[in-house]
Amino acid sequence: MKKTVIANWKMYGNSASAKAWADSFRAISQATNDKSQATIIVCPPAPLLSLLKTEFLDLPIFLGGQDCHSQTEGAFTGDISADLLKDIGCSHVIVGHSERRNNYAESNEIVSKKADYAIKAGLIPIICIGETAIERENGQTIEVLSKQIAESIPKNVAKNNFILAYEPIWAIGSGNVPTINEISAAHCAILSEVSKLTGLASDSVSLLYGGSVKAENAKEIMQVQGVSGVLVGGASLKAEEFFKISTSA
Ligand code: PGA
Repeated sequence: MKKTVIANWKMYGNSASAKAWADSFRAISQATNDKSQATIIVCPPAPLLSLLKTEFLDLPIFLGGQDCHSQTEGAFTGDISADLLKDIGCSHVIVGHSERRNNYAESNEIVSKKADYAIKAGLIPIICIGETAIERENGQTIEVLSKQIAESIPKNVAKNNFILAYEPIWAIGSGNVPTINEISAAHCAILSEVSKLTGLASDSVSLLYGGSVKAENAKEIMQVQGVSGVLVGGASLKAEEFFKISTSA
């Protein structure tokens, strides 16, 4: 399966830095023979989507939202519908990122509704799951992941219409990465649960790893069996580093 490399810019950047990022990515791509074999998706803050749609016209980069609402329209101040993301040129949307789950008390049920709606709007949801440090210390990782899988994945998933991202919360932005064996074990367990739930073959489900992925560790992580790519936060803000990660696939 083709690897997927996703940039999650979170609430960083502005018009000038987004344009500079695209210019820099373009210049590096032209200057090197290293070509990425991966599907590349950039998820910037929503106000930068239209600008980047134009900037990415000559680059092999898809656009994604960082979140969407679970309804098509309404009196939801500050929210963005999946239809609108689709309308302005997105192909993907992240749902259930731990920062959304924690900061806005988004439950598995809400995440499932968002993913369901994203699929109906013609977007590919990137559904995030992951355990906290305490859950990990208590040996509850698989139990927590299984519950998130059962409750966050909507019924309308099918081959190729969704992506999952395993992001241990303690690994996000911390510089701490699980061992290769831990990533492998978690991915294997997740794929087996998803397969049981959806009836899809494990090798047809796209499951990314996220949490402190950098240019130095991306290759090793992407070689782990069951890892279909990476979701990158901090290291995706630098075009050069993100380009390196994308060519590690
Ligand atoms: P990080 O973030 O790469 O900065 O750890 C990953 C994420 O939150 O998606």
